[in-house]
Amino acid sequence: MTNTLWTTLALIGLGTAVGAQDSNSLSIEGESIVTEVAAPAHMENVDTIYSGWRFRSAETQALEMDDFDNPAFVFVEQGMDLWDKVDGAAGKACSSCHENIEDFAGLRTQLPRVDDGELVTMENLINECRTDRMEAEPWKWSKGKMTAMTGLIGVQSRGMPMNVAIDGDAAPFWEKGKELYYTRVGQLDMACSNCHEDNYGMMIRADHLSQGQINGFPTYRLKNAKLNSIHGRFKGCMKNIRATPFKEGGDEFKALELYLASRGQGLSVETPSVRN
Ligand code: HEC
Ligand code: HEC
Repeated sequence: MTNTLWTTLALIGLGTAVGAQDSNSLSIEGESIVTEVAAPAHMENVDTIYSGWRFRSAETQALEMDDFDNPAFVFVEQGMDLWDKVDGAAGKACSSCHENIEDFAGLRTQLPRVDDGELVTMENLINECRTDRMEAEPWKWSKGKMTAMTGLIGVQSRGMPMNVAIDGDAAPFWEKGKELYYTRVGQLDMACSNCHEDNYGMMIRADHLSQGQINGFPTYRLKNAKLNSIHGRFKGCMKNIRATPFKEGGDEFKALELYLASRGQGLSVETPSVRN
């Protein structure tokens, strides 16, 4: 383990169960990751935004600090195999057309974005290449092949600040996402905001509530030992409040994804993160 890791762990030990943990610096493989920054101007009720990493236990935090310890990298490596694998009627692999995976550095920070009037996520861009350019089957939104690839492409932006566009063409999608974030749903009649804005820092059963940021996705969860998509997590939260979840890849979750990405502006991309 590195010195930074020990220092950070020592600092975390002094934290309390309520509020974000004391350590505000995360360093992964020597790269510094911003986990706390002033909230973007559009957020009316929150002054400071924090990565979900800050709310995890010291043990869970440590898993993300070293790529060798981070279980998500098994899946990122599967993504690298898929990158070179020929698939579909056109007889191509991703690497037949895209020279270097590193060329995707920065892409994660800007998604979702509007292309030709449509809001598109990383999954949409990948499947567009699969169906239109490879003549292959699209990958399922939250299944292993897709999350391996979103993990591989996402990690190329690790350490770069989230920076989605919310004006111009994106404005109506952003407004829709915002409305969904504050709308109470389900038998428990709760909105995302009731937990992730009004009560972050509090314990909920055995879980330490975060601001529900998406800068670390896809995220490896100890709970299910795999990479989890953004929409998969939204679905889980909706089920927890006994609401009928929207469809993964549907307009509602894409709009919500844009809105949540904008609530994390300035936080570093942490992909692939580790959570419980
Ligand atoms: C036949 C060539 C071809 C193949 C094969 C291909 N792509 Fe693409 N891809 C393109 C072109 C052309 C674009 C649009 C121009 C650009 O952004 O590079 C693109 C765009 C993308 C983008 C969006 C980039 C951006 O900055 O907006 C992603 C992500 C992507 N491809 C991923 C993949 C993945 C993953 C695979 C394999 C599953 C793949 N592509 C296979 C040609 C291809
Ligand atoms: C009843 C409280 C509650 C509500 C309401 C709720 N969540 Fe969550 N959410 C949780 C808990 C608990 C976790 C796991 C601990 C944490 O990261 O906050 C979580 C985690 C998340 C995460 C993962 C954060 C990370 O760092 O990996 C995201 C994203 C998220 N929620 C989004 C949403 C969205 C979007 C909504 C509204 C559709 C929502 N949540 C509604 C309780 C809630």
